[in-house]
Amino acid sequence: MCGIIGVTLRRGCLGGNAVPLLLEGLRRLEYRGYDSAGVALQVCEDGSCSLRVYKAKGKVEEVIARYGLDKLEALTGLGHTRWATHGPPSDVNAHPHLDCRGEIAVVHNGIIKNYASLRKMLEEKGHVFRSETDTEVVAHLLEELVASGMGMLEALGELVKLLEGSFALAILYARDPGRIYFARRESPLYAAIGECVSAVSSDIPSLLHISRDIVAVEDDEYGYIGPGTLELYRDGRRVDWRTRVKRVEWSVEEASKGGYPHYMLKEIMEQPRAVYETLVGLLEDPAAVEAAGLLAGASRVYATGAGTSYHATLVFKHFMHVYAATPVYDYISSEHEEYESVIREGDVLVAVSQSGETLDTLAAVKAAKARGARVVAVTNVVGSTLSRIADVTVYTRAGPEIGVAATKTFLTQLVALTYLAALVGRETGRLDEGDVGRIVESLRRGREAARSAERLNPHIKLLASILLRGRTRSMFLLGRLLGAHLAREAALKVKEIAYLHAEAYPAGESKHGPIALVEDGFPVLFVGTPGVEKRLYSNMEEMKARGAKVIVVGVDSYGDAPADYKLLVGSYDEVAAPYALMPPLQLLAYHLAVLQGYDPDKPRNLAKTVTVE
Ligand code: G6P
Repeated sequence: MCGIIGVTLRRGCLGGNAVPLLLEGLRRLEYRGYDSAGVALQVCEDGSCSLRVYKAKGKVEEVIARYGLDKLEALTGLGHTRWATHGPPSDVNAHPHLDCRGEIAVVHNGIIKNYASLRKMLEEKGHVFRSETDTEVVAHLLEELVASGMGMLEALGELVKLLEGSFALAILYARDPGRIYFARRESPLYAAIGECVSAVSSDIPSLLHISRDIVAVEDDEYGYIGPGTLELYRDGRRVDWRTRVKRVEWSVEEASKGGYPHYMLKEIMEQPRAVYETLVGLLEDPAAVEAAGLLAGASRVYATGAGTSYHATLVFKHFMHVYAATPVYDYISSEHEEYESVIREGDVLVAVSQSGETLDTLAAVKAAKARGARVVAVTNVVGSTLSRIADVTVYTRAGPEIGVAATKTFLTQLVALTYLAALVGRETGRLDEGDVGRIVESLRRGREAARSAERLNPHIKLLASILLRGRTRSMFLLGRLLGAHLAREAALKVKEIAYLHAEAYPAGESKHGPIALVEDGFPVLFVGTPGVEKRLYSNMEEMKARGAKVIVVGVDSYGDAPADYKLLVGSYDEVAAPYALMPPLQLLAYHLAVLQGYDPDKPRNLAKTVTVE
């Protein structure tokens, strides 16, 4: 995830300088990415304009200070905050990116799926690339289209047809003073139209100091803004946007949460996009194939992580067993000393960490490396310490997560790890190309599956209030196989933000101890993954016989479950089911927290990234 913005001002308006408006927008966009930042300004003298680009690795304020951006003046400019996906954070990879002649500047949020083939084609035509980003192809492609005789608007229409993947683009062309071109597919983009100023941006809060009259740009639309104006097109035809203007009355703080009361809720709702972007990124990423090769050739495979990331390793283990018949030895990273005497050369450790900075996980990796093992990292932060010390890094593309409790980063870890397990299955000859294709298709369904959050939210809220009315202080979450792993993650969510005792167990094991705690009205939630229905029903009956309140969050095949309360998420196979099941479970923790008056974004005693032992 990145943040893009473009502002254009009429001469003589608002102090005659768009730079302060641009920088304010950039500061507000920093939550979307903060490893690099940059701006491009259009500077016009004596009737001719040129572009000046200032960009660097670092936080927005550092980049502003480095170039003295707050002392510059221009009527038209672009800005970008980066969350690296292609190429590590660096001055060169920071946006904006320029064409060969320095006349076209581009900022981008999203992933261009076919950038590798476009880059090859453009390089063959003589274009010289400076960065490792997918974005730079856009600048050179536009240069090529304009050189063939098209105006920028026409070129943009062609560009939208040529690009695959997701994008929100803002573009500055030296020869068109006062205009900012834009295009969008899947990545968010909004336009704000004021009296004598206009802007486009990735989100609404970064526009509210410019205008509260906002137009949401839709998929495959493109066009340009000028001071106080907007021109919108689709498929070469002009689109009437005037009926689409919405007056936004939110405060900036409300708006930065996308209208949701908490970041956690926003991040739960963002999961369809996060899951999709991660999958699209992986399918293009040679590191995934390299990692699978390492794993297929390993003497033994270990997997480690902390908290939610550890739970992702359990799901990895499950799919490695199913697809590759390869045992995976999982351990919590802070327990790594337990494994130091057994890990040796020839082994591969898969280290999972959202931040890539969790000290225990880094310690586990260093210890394994010292014993001669190779390391595959799965992380959300490009350039993080973990990615630097691993032999191969596979990235998730969830974007920054602000809520302390991991939500969207968990589901994106599952995408990466399931895909990796499928590739290992292929490498080891257990799966063929068709099998991998079917697994990828199921992962693709993850996007639609994760929309369960929106659909089921009111029901979950009701369930949470019923549980609290029953004075719940403790609950069990049970499942079998994959469902047992998801139950552990759901229990962690309930503990960390709702401060209720929640214990997860493999359902079959619940009779060997935990069931002794069950008394009248004690809530027991079953995570219903496909394929284990009948056996879970028996466990439900056992619990009911002791007076438990039995709840099922399951796929549709749990329609006959002997439960007091059923939430069915749709019909999904084992690969896609976690994306439908986890969002309602995360929402349950969320509502249990909020209904008790707790702030789910900042749970007590916890930190987002734990850099102590
Ligand atoms: C903390 C966070 C958790 C996270 C864990 C591991 O405990 O509160 O949400 O799962 O760290 O973090 P990592 O960045 O390594 O995934």
